[in-house]
Amino acid sequence: MQNRALITGITGQDGAYLARLLLSLGYQVWGTHRRSSSPNTWRLRELGILEKIRFIPMDLLEYSNIQRVIETVRPNEVYNLAAQSFVQTSFEMPLYTGDVDGLGVTRILEAVRTVDSTIHFYQASTSELFGKVHAIPQNEATPFHPRSPYGVGKLYAHWITVNYRESYGMHTSCGILFNHESPLRGQEFVTRKVTTQLAKVIAGKQRILEVGNLEARRDWGFAGDYVDGMWRMLQRSHGDDFVLATGETHSVREFIDEASRHAGHEIEWDGVGALAVGRSRKTGQELVRVNPEFYRPAEVDLLIGDPAKATQELGWKASTRFKSLVEMMMTADMRRVAEGTLEA
Ligand SMILES: NC(=O)c1ccc[n+]([C@@H]2O[C@H](COP(=O)([O-])OP(=O)(O)OC[C@H]3O[C@@H](n4cnc5c(N)ncnc54)[C@H](OP(=O)(O)O)[C@@H]3O)[C@@H](O)[C@H]2O)c1
Repeated sequence: MQNRALITGITGQDGAYLARLLLSLGYQVWGTHRRSSSPNTWRLRELGILEKIRFIPMDLLEYSNIQRVIETVRPNEVYNLAAQSFVQTSFEMPLYTGDVDGLGVTRILEAVRTVDSTIHFYQASTSELFGKVHAIPQNEATPFHPRSPYGVGKLYAHWITVNYRESYGMHTSCGILFNHESPLRGQEFVTRKVTTQLAKVIAGKQRILEVGNLEARRDWGFAGDYVDGMWRMLQRSHGDDFVLATGETHSVREFIDEASRHAGHEIEWDGVGALAVGRSRKTGQELVRVNPEFYRPAEVDLLIGDPAKATQELGWKASTRFKSLVEMMMTADMRRVAEGTLEA
């Protein structure tokens, strides 16, 4: 029988890449979307798979709705990617974030347990669980210390997923994913903010790019590589938790340097901290400056993952390197800016 997958958050970055992967593997792919006047389908359209997805409305806040969705779709695999996924917003909406990102996961797990407890379940955990890091690099055994309502909500989700595995013997897995980016990343995230806005500044369509902490360091991979790891977790005989990461770290400043270089402008930096300004060596034009308004109330300074367990047990590896990732994103956004096709 054809495999059937249900992806919550299919309209997001990872949902789109995962849907493409599962379709290529012959799955019937169902995706949940939230009720809204204009569904957010640009990513699925851009990947050319919109028509192949079976959509079903679902909100993580409504248990009865989730149970009906599981009963209707009867999936073999559920990938829970839906979340209020932006750390900054979680400081402004801590209760909502906890409800969707934390309790929402218990709602799905309960629905799965009630309807068919043999379903394989994937939970989107995050490197933000490590927050104020207790070890470098971080692996599955590193203690958690989240630094935002997002991280705290995801911590609850992580442990409730482990708990359903241990309590009921369910096939549940958590992917502790370090940052992964792509040309389909939301524009509120720093990498895509840099590539969209820098492309506009260089094209003369925006005055300057303003960013927060230039020295924040992240382990950035390509989302297309990471969804393959999610799928691999659900193909095993039992559920488990895995870190997916590149094992390399780069600063926001390095990301900006690389993106700008790809667009033909080496950056010369002047000033430090909140006073830092980046100018094009070629034209002298101010391209970037720091705006402390974009600093997080509590920063996560150095996230770097150790994916050894995923490499050994899943045969997984992040194959796209930092430079290629930045180039891929910058190329896409320069084209979109030139064509006027940047998503709203
Ligand atoms: N990308 C990363 O670097 C990263 C790293 C670690 C973990 N994660 C986690 O991995 C998952 C996927 O990430 P992503 O980058 O693809 O995120 P994303 O692009 O922000 O997508 C989030 C998805 O969740 C949906 N959603 C939000 N609130 C919902 C609700 N109340 N009910 C139902 N659906 C809701 C959104 O739907 P709309 O389209 O309607 O807004 C969207 O489809 C998220 O859980 C994220 O927290 C991401």
